[in-house]
Amino acid sequence: MTATIKDSVVFITGATGAIAQALIAGLLARGAAKVYAAARDVTRVTASERVVPVKLDVASDTDVTAAAALATDVTLLINNAGVNHNTALLLAPDLAIAREEIEINYLAPLRLARAFAPALIKNNGAMLNILTILARVNLPFMGSYCASKAAALSLTQGLRGELAPKGVRVVAALPGAVDTRMTAGLPIPKMTTEEAAREILDGFEAGEEDIYVGEMAKGLAAGLAQDHKAVERQLASPA
Ligand SMILES: NC(=O)c1ccc[n+]([C@@H]2O[C@H](COP(=O)([O-])OP(=O)(O)OC[C@H]3O[C@@H](n4cnc5c(N)ncnc54)[C@H](OP(=O)(O)O)[C@@H]3O)[C@@H](O)[C@H]2O)c1
Repeated sequence: MTATIKDSVVFITGATGAIAQALIAGLLARGAAKVYAAARDVTRVTASERVVPVKLDVASDTDVTAAAALATDVTLLINNAGVNHNTALLLAPDLAIAREEIEINYLAPLRLARAFAPALIKNNGAMLNILTILARVNLPFMGSYCASKAAALSLTQGLRGELAPKGVRVVAALPGAVDTRMTAGLPIPKMTTEEAAREILDGFEAGEEDIYVGEMAKGLAAGLAQDHKAVERQLASPA
């Protein structure tokens, strides 16, 4: 099963995003042979010798089927695209926000996994799902985002069970807050995208299955291991 980045052929979704940009730079620096950089607005992705822009809305069956047919040499699928409306469950006017977060954060990685599984199995590859530490405990002021990422964590575990016997490694990255447009306006300590990408790729190359990225994620994971309910109450109380 793939553990090193060198010579890998990567397919990454949400390539226009801030963490994706840092991941792509890190992947290239570590010797990836090719990166398929998938974005719904492909004009915002710069092609180069090793970067192949691919037009892809992760919510589109047609786009995902076409991308999987194109990238049959993939050895590492990175499900990175995500949305966070930073909205509490009861403050949302209707279910539209929760529905979009479930569509992009849970159903889309499932769609990608189903389409790319044959190539990953054939190429003895790996899948890396960019989740969040909030997949493990709900932060109520962004409650529906956390619920969608909790579903994606369960998805990751289920895919791991299905794909491990077929030689495909399935990895979760669980970052804390990272300084991107997703966290703009949140007055909390944040990692840089470069720090997050480095820890994600280091963890991947070290063979980790669940990569806790940054001090916030590591601290919360340690707290959850010790007293899950205490962490739940801590996140539910106003600062
Ligand atoms: N920032 C954080 O603190 C943090 C912490 C933990 C985990 N994460 C996770 O890290 C991942 C990347 O987030 P980020 O912080 O880098 O945010 P970002 O800069 O907003 O990037 C999100 C990316 O997802 C793409 N995307 C959204 N809907 C899509 C769709 N339907 N089809 C294709 N692409 C779509 C966006 O494309 P457009 O450019 O077209 O909108 C963008 O490229 C997400 O999964 C997020 O949940 C972030």
